[in-house]
Amino acid sequence: MPLDRDSKTPLYLQLYQLLKDSYLPKSGNQQQLLSIRRMAQTMNVSKTTVEQAYDQLLAEGYVYTVPGSGYFFKALKAWPTASPKTPAIPVSTPPKPVTYDFRYGATQLLKPSWNAWKKAVRDALRQAEANPVSYPDAQGLPALRQRLTTFLRTTRGVRCQPDQIVITNGAKEGLALLLSILPAGTLGIENPGYRGLPALASAAGKATVALPVTTQGVSLTAIKAAQPQFVYTTPAHQFPLGYVLPIAQRLELLQWAAAESRLIIEDDYDSEYRYHTQPLPALQSVAMADQVAYLGTFAKGIDPTLRMGYLVLPVHLVAVYHRQYQYRSAMVAGLLQQAMVAYFDSGAYYRHISRSRSLNRRKYQRLTQLLATTDRIQPIATGAGLQLVVRIPGIAQKALLAALTAADIRIYPLDSNWQAMPSHDYYLLGFTAVSLADLEVAIPRLIAVCDQLGH
Ligand SMILES: Cc1ncc(COP(=O)(O)O)c(C=O)c1O
Repeated sequence: MPLDRDSKTPLYLQLYQLLKDSYLPKSGNQQQLLSIRRMAQTMNVSKTTVEQAYDQLLAEGYVYTVPGSGYFFKALKAWPTASPKTPAIPVSTPPKPVTYDFRYGATQLLKPSWNAWKKAVRDALRQAEANPVSYPDAQGLPALRQRLTTFLRTTRGVRCQPDQIVITNGAKEGLALLLSILPAGTLGIENPGYRGLPALASAAGKATVALPVTTQGVSLTAIKAAQPQFVYTTPAHQFPLGYVLPIAQRLELLQWAAAESRLIIEDDYDSEYRYHTQPLPALQSVAMADQVAYLGTFAKGIDPTLRMGYLVLPVHLVAVYHRQYQYRSAMVAGLLQQAMVAYFDSGAYYRHISRSRSLNRRKYQRLTQLLATTDRIQPIATGAGLQLVVRIPGIAQKALLAALTAADIRIYPLDSNWQAMPSHDYYLLGFTAVSLADLEVAIPRLIAVCDQLGH
């Protein structure tokens, strides 16, 4: 086979590959390569090209030299196949983009906050230049853990020391880490709930048990009946339905956990966004024993692309974490953690949350006003978060989604969040992803589509 002189692959690499492919490992005979000069003539390339190809084969151990005789292929038992067939990777085709996409988790970029974040990153870069350090602390920068301790105490009542905090690359990874250090046991999860949870739990060797959600949050009756060793819950704003676990239920849950030595995993993923009242302090803040692990994220407070969150370990798990993770690396780049420290220190994070909360409050209010003009769409209104769950009864899901795509709108069915779903008419609207001006177009259009399809 001639070499391809127009190819981007250098000639010596082409020759190297050709020689490797031409070797017949089972022939039994000692196979000698042509001398450099003869090979150069045969292939019509320079001697340097051949030398480079032979050197590469030599360096990788495919050939050896015998002084005075030349180059020989090694009689290797196994030989890589010429071009191994790579199995096709199943591709998932992303849905067609639409103008009004109520995708959960996305937020609008706020210019002043973004500028402050850019400044914080520049400050971190300057600091890294002035004081180069080696590997960042695996648990997270002590300065950031210290800022978080204050932030969590003042905003959520969480009581902890910096040594209990691990900086993670998001709440989900914080949960994965936590599950990986817990002993064997079953994990109770809310139903409906966060979709990736059963898979995440099974990767850590934990079976899950579904706990129904009532208008008062996760069902305590179900917890007491199932007696799981660990309970994952979103008490501030149940995901996805949005109910709040009232104080009486919180205390009962904590009493049960303390009496039975069970662990509660509190995911406080969007507590920054409460639009009418102050949020209840975190469950962790009223725990009477060391029975709550607390998860949080900067995904909702800043941006999900940042991939930064935190896990507050109960004190009894700190040593277990260190035993298992002492040789692991930091989950988030030191530079970004340092930028977050600067973002805290300049007050930008607090300003961002208040700015973002006020914009999202206006969106929430406008959305619920617009939806109040129809009874075809029934919001489960909770006055919080980045999502609103609605029921749209009496319209087949497939027909509704198709008509909405044609109208350039996308909302998200909750089927995959539910184990044994009661009905298929629940949808999630990630309203913070859409601008106020776009809400004015999209919601009347959504209502018109429902009017058309409903009877
Ligand atoms: C219940 C819940 N917890 C946590 C998160 C955030 O996770 P992460 O920080 O990994 O983006 C989300 C967002 O999707 C969520 O819905």
